Amino acid sequence: MARILKEYPSVSLRPEDLDGKIDFVRIFGRAGPVHIEVGTGKGTFLLNQAGAQPGDNFLGIEWARKYYRYAVDRIGRWGLTNVRIIRTDAASFLADFVPDNSVECFHIYFPDPWPKKRHHKRRFISPTNLEHLVRCLRRGGQLRIATDHTEYFEQIKKVLTARNEKLQEIDFLPTAGAQASEWVGTNFERKYLKDQRPIHTLALKKT
Ligand SMILES: C[S@@+](CC[C@H](N)C(=O)[O-])C[C@H]1O[C@@H](n2cnc3c(N)ncnc32)[C@H](O)[C@@H]1O
Repeated sequence: MARILKEYPSVSLRPEDLDGKIDFVRIFGRAGPVHIEVGTGKGTFLLNQAGAQPGDNFLGIEWARKYYRYAVDRIGRWGLTNVRIIRTDAASFLADFVPDNSVECFHIYFPDPWPKKRHHKRRFISPTNLEHLVRCLRRGGQLRIATDHTEYFEQIKKVLTARNEKLQEIDFLPTAGAQASEWVGTNFERKYLKDQRPIHTLALKKT
């Protein structure tokens, strides 16, 4: 039987409520380090990490309606007050709404690889989006990426190398929800580990 998904207005951040650059203190009702997850899927990372870091604020961005609704329902049922989720395209959201030097960490776990060459331009990690990721990170803030797709990972490293005067590679530490042999413990990581696919990770710090 299909699960009945509830709406939680305290969790949802509606694109139509945004007007210019975001004031995160207003959105979360308090100050605190801001983490942004691009492509939240069913919200597993947000549930575990926001639960483990109650002093930090977490914003998930997900454009697929069914995942967005699923994640909002889970966060709401768990009663987490330090998570917001917005249903929108992460690229335009970053460009239009996220202020400079405002983000503690971007989490990008298993971004869609768009394997066909003619679709590569749809990949999230691109020179333009990287400019915005770096702009939005505070100094010392982190960019964390995981993917199972070796060719996309190579392209990601190329894009990042071109920007390496601002980014320094650091150890990728497992997330709060990761179990033995996992890095991030998300639904896609679990699925890909079962398929015995390689998992590539990368963490960088803004200098
Ligand atoms: C492969 S899934 C990974 C989901 C989750 N991070 C995980 O590891 O289980 C990629 C997710 O990113 C979302 N997504 C892809 N491009 C996006 C974009 N530009 N803005 C927001 N969400 C996006 C997709 O709808 C999908 O839910």
